[in-house]
Amino acid sequence: MPSTKGKKRCRVGVVGLGMGRAHLRGYQSVPDCEIVAICDIDKARLEAVKEEFSVPRTFTDFEEMFAMEDLDAVSIALPNYLHAPVTIAAAKAGKHVLCEKPMAMNVKEAESMIEAARSAGVRLMMHFNFRFTPQAQMLKKYIDNGEMGDIYYVKTGWLRRRGVPGMGSWFTQREKAGGGPLIDLGVHRLDLALWLIGHPRPKLVLGSTYTKFGDKMAKAARKTYDVEDLACGLIKMENQTTVFLEASWAGNSEKAEEMYTQLFGTKGGAEQRNQGEGYEFGLKIFKERHGAFEDILPRHLPAGESPQQHFVRCIQENKPFIAPAEHGLCVQQILDALYLSGQTGEAIVL
Ligand SMILES: NC(=O)c1ccc[n+]([C@@H]2O[C@H](COP(=O)([O-])OP(=O)(O)OC[C@H]3O[C@@H](n4cnc5c(N)ncnc54)[C@H](O)[C@@H]3O)[C@@H](O)[C@H]2O)c1
Repeated sequence: MPSTKGKKRCRVGVVGLGMGRAHLRGYQSVPDCEIVAICDIDKARLEAVKEEFSVPRTFTDFEEMFAMEDLDAVSIALPNYLHAPVTIAAAKAGKHVLCEKPMAMNVKEAESMIEAARSAGVRLMMHFNFRFTPQAQMLKKYIDNGEMGDIYYVKTGWLRRRGVPGMGSWFTQREKAGGGPLIDLGVHRLDLALWLIGHPRPKLVLGSTYTKFGDKMAKAARKTYDVEDLACGLIKMENQTTVFLEASWAGNSEKAEEMYTQLFGTKGGAEQRNQGEGYEFGLKIFKERHGAFEDILPRHLPAGESPQQHFVRCIQENKPFIAPAEHGLCVQQILDALYLSGQTGEAIVL
């Protein structure tokens, strides 16, 4: 792991203490980084997390936290509808931002976040954490080394048999989440696929969205559910690569939780897939050599940086992020087009 020894200490804060706790764990192991503040409107959560991570200052108002002078950077792990306004507020206060996925509710918001960071002269990174798994990092090495040849087809998805997060909470309300499993889970797989294949420009998007279970489950529990529970789509790139994406919170599939990415290249193929039904991944590479098929199973993969280590180091060394805000915008453009296509039944030309 690259050292940040001797670099200016980075003083960080976290807003939103659900997923924000994972950010705090990430920052805890970063050299030359100090967790100075946390913020959440849920006072019980705030107190519990303050105790757990021994954080000196707590806030229920993010504006007050951003007014701290001895705060350099913040993680924003809030419900999706707050990503844009809170990122913009942090940028205006001169704080670097590590923003949770999805970047925003729509492209317009994502663009305004980039503009706010640019005009304030602060850095904005997306928390696309699935890029940081050892298997994703290793696969990227194979691809960038030319060992897969030209990749012309990618198939990827995250499917849950029954796994709606927070039924009735902001997750299942369109005005607060922007959508269902596509913007929640599909966003990770889409981002990973685009990063692996080097972000070719998307040209055409055809998507479908369905609500077959969530609304009925919600009705029985007297909760709000107005998002899809399964989405799928095709994205055709200008370089003729095709990406197929699928995501569900509920559907009659075999596994409780399935995450996969399959790549088809002229010199090799690959499959990255979660093991069992958990969050550990496996990687297989498929080649043909000397007239025979060859399956490669990379093992003992080196653990790289965490997203928080990367975020802090790139700020300290003034290096580009692996997951800059522009990649978040690109993902958002495709998500918006998939939703629009799902609504209209038409293909969307970007
Ligand atoms: N990268 C990942 O793997 C991953 C995993 C889970 C969630 N997420 C993302 O993280 C974000 C948060 O999701 P979550 O699961 O933690 O949700 P959550 O509802 O569990 O937590 C959100 C927290 O934000 C707080 N909050 C709401 N409004 C606030 C405000 N105005 N000021 C301060 N705090 C406020 C809530 O009290 C709550 O504690 C979402 O964007 C989600 O997509 C990412």
